[in-house]
Amino acid sequence: MQTELILVNPQIQPFVAHIQLNRPKELNALNPVLMRELKDALLELDQDVQVRAIVLSGNEKAFAAGADIKQMADKTAVEMVNLDQFSTWDAIRKIKKPLIAAVSGFALGGGCELAMMCDKIIAAETAKFGQPEIRIGVIPGAGGTQRLTRAVGKALAMEMVLTGKFISADEAWKAGLVNRVVPEELYLSEALKLAGEIAAMPPVAVKMAKEAVLKAFDSTLEEGLQFERKNFYLLFASRDQKEGMQAFIEKRKPEFRGE
Ligand code: CAA
Repeated sequence: MQTELILVNPQIQPFVAHIQLNRPKELNALNPVLMRELKDALLELDQDVQVRAIVLSGNEKAFAAGADIKQMADKTAVEMVNLDQFSTWDAIRKIKKPLIAAVSGFALGGGCELAMMCDKIIAAETAKFGQPEIRIGVIPGAGGTQRLTRAVGKALAMEMVLTGKFISADEAWKAGLVNRVVPEELYLSEALKLAGEIAAMPPVAVKMAKEAVLKAFDSTLEEGLQFERKNFYLLFASRDQKEGMQAFIEKRKPEFRGE
C-alpha cells in the first residue's frame, strides 16, 4: 500500500504494520487528505489477520506539527462543521488493534492528539509535546483538552492548553504521557520491538484488553468492572485461552493463532 501522504508497510516485521506520515516539508501537518488516507489504511490493517499491532510514526524532525493551519485559516465555522474533519478521527479512535506512536521531534496540536489516541507512545529524547492552539486563537479540537488532562492531570494540562507551552520528552515521561524515552536513533526500533511483544500475545485477548482499558475512561467503576468481566468470560470461548493455559501447565511456549 503506497499513497502520497502516508507510507504503509503492512508487514514491517511479522504481524506488525508500520504507517509513516509523509508530508516532511510541512512537518507532517495533518490535512484532511492525509487524515482520510490514514483512516483508510488503519481500517484496512484492522481487518488484516496478518497484522496484530500497528506502529505510527513521522520522521526525526516531526511526528506531526498539528492540523494544517494554512488549510483552516480562512474557514468559517459553518465550513468547518460541513468539512466534518473529525469524523476521520472518530473512526481512528475505534481501531481495535493496538496502536503505538513512535514520536520524534514535534508532536503538537493534532499531532499530540494523534499520539494520545494511540495506546502507547515511545518518544525520542528530542520529542516535544504541546497543545499550542491557543496561540493561534483556537483550542484543541481533536481531544487534547480531554486526553491530555486524563494523561497528565489538571495542573500540567491547564498550563499547556492555556499557554501553548511545549514539554520535553523527559517531562512527558515524568507526567505519564509517554511509555518510554529513548535516544533519537532508537525511537522507531523501540516502538517496533514493543509492537513485536504485543504481537506475540493472543490477538483476540489483546483486542479485548484494549477495549476494556479504554472503557475505564468513559464508564463508572461498576460499569467498567462488569464490562471487563464479560470480556474475561468471553475469552474462554477462544482457542488461544485453551492453548495459553495448557501451555502453562505443560511448561511450554504457547502458540497463539488469533482463534
Ligand atoms: N500547519 C501547516 N503548516 C505547518 C504547520 C501546521 N500545523 N506546522 C508547520 N508547518 C509548515 C510551516 O508553515 C513551514 O512551511 P513553509 O516552509 O512553507 O513556510 C514548514 O512547515 C516548516 O515549519 P517552520 O518553518 O515553522 O519550522 P520551525 O522549525 O521554525 O518551527 C514549529 C516548527 C514550532 C513546529 C512551527 O512550525 C509551528 O509552530 N507550527 C504550528 C504548530 C501548531 O500551532 N499546531 C497546532 C495546529 S491547530 C490544531 O492542531 C487543531 C487541532 O486540535 C486538531
